[in-house]
Amino acid sequence: MVGPSLRVSLAGLRFENPLMLASGIVGVTVPSLTRAIDSGAGSAVSKSIGLEPREGYRNPTLVATQDGGLLNAVGLSNPGARIFAEELSEVRGRHLPIIVSIFGGGPVEFSRVVDILDSQEFLAYELNLSCPHVEGVGTEIGHDPEVVASVVKAVRSRTKKPLFAKLSPNTHKIVEIARAAVASGADGLTAVNTVRAMAINVETTKPTLTHKYGGLSGDAIRSIALAKIYELYEEVKVPIIGCGGVSNWEHAVEMMLAGASAVEMGTALYQGYGVFQDVNRGIVAYMRRKKFRKVQEMVGLGH
Ligand SMILES: Cc1cc2nc3c(=O)[nH]c(=O)nc-3n(C[C@H](O)[C@H](O)[C@H](O)COP(=O)(O)O)c2cc1C
Repeated sequence: MVGPSLRVSLAGLRFENPLMLASGIVGVTVPSLTRAIDSGAGSAVSKSIGLEPREGYRNPTLVATQDGGLLNAVGLSNPGARIFAEELSEVRGRHLPIIVSIFGGGPVEFSRVVDILDSQEFLAYELNLSCPHVEGVGTEIGHDPEVVASVVKAVRSRTKKPLFAKLSPNTHKIVEIARAAVASGADGLTAVNTVRAMAINVETTKPTLTHKYGGLSGDAIRSIALAKIYELYEEVKVPIIGCGGVSNWEHAVEMMLAGASAVEMGTALYQGYGVFQDVNRGIVAYMRRKKFRKVQEMVGLGH
């Protein structure tokens, strides 16, 4: 008898399995994306790329919190669209399942980034509308449905590649924002980016991160992400990529039951790239036990 299949298709794309490398964790260079794919990820999302190179904030930019979270304010450090386009040109012909995350200060900047990258070989864009710790390009854009609509429309007019709008959990308007993105041409949603958070060092008595505020990821945000996915699945009819605190197969299955067609993993990668194989194996064992033949049969079953 043929075993369960991990293959998924969403927004016209086909992946070997539902697991994806989340943006920004190890994916700053193209080789780190290919390493995730070689290690069992069905696809890999790049670090968010902007128009110009950006250094990011001074250290400390990362701190582990006592609630099982990781707090970061890296500051969207990236090599800029031109250099990243050159890097992508080096893997042309390999047909790698790479998704490029982009950010910008508004529709014009997003469009310019797309114009530089679009002729390269990659599958889709993830629009980072949701970084909680960079002024002017993050949630200031992503929390305003009208600005989201203008960004998605602008990008839609420049490319035929599928667009995934990555949403912020730091708003009560997530459904309204998702609807604005979809009405303007987004093919899918990624939910969610990090939760705005802070840590204070009791010895120095001051915020631990140089930038003071950061984005929380990992175990501490999984239940928040799950509720956002569940809510979006009921309200918006495009595929959802789940993201936030997934580090084992149960977490991934939980997200699919909530409505995610694929699942990104970020912070879990700090335990090593082996996590993709482990989670895939766990999902297959679960599917066998529950007699699911396709991943799609699980998606949204929690409703
Ligand atoms: C160090 C670090 C850097 C990140 N950089 C980005 C980024 O450039 N673009 C983006 O959309 N998300 C970025 N994220 C957010 C992750 O892609 C993901 O949405 C978040 O960490 C929640 O998933 P996780 O709990 O599996 O890590 C970053 C997260 C971390 C921890």
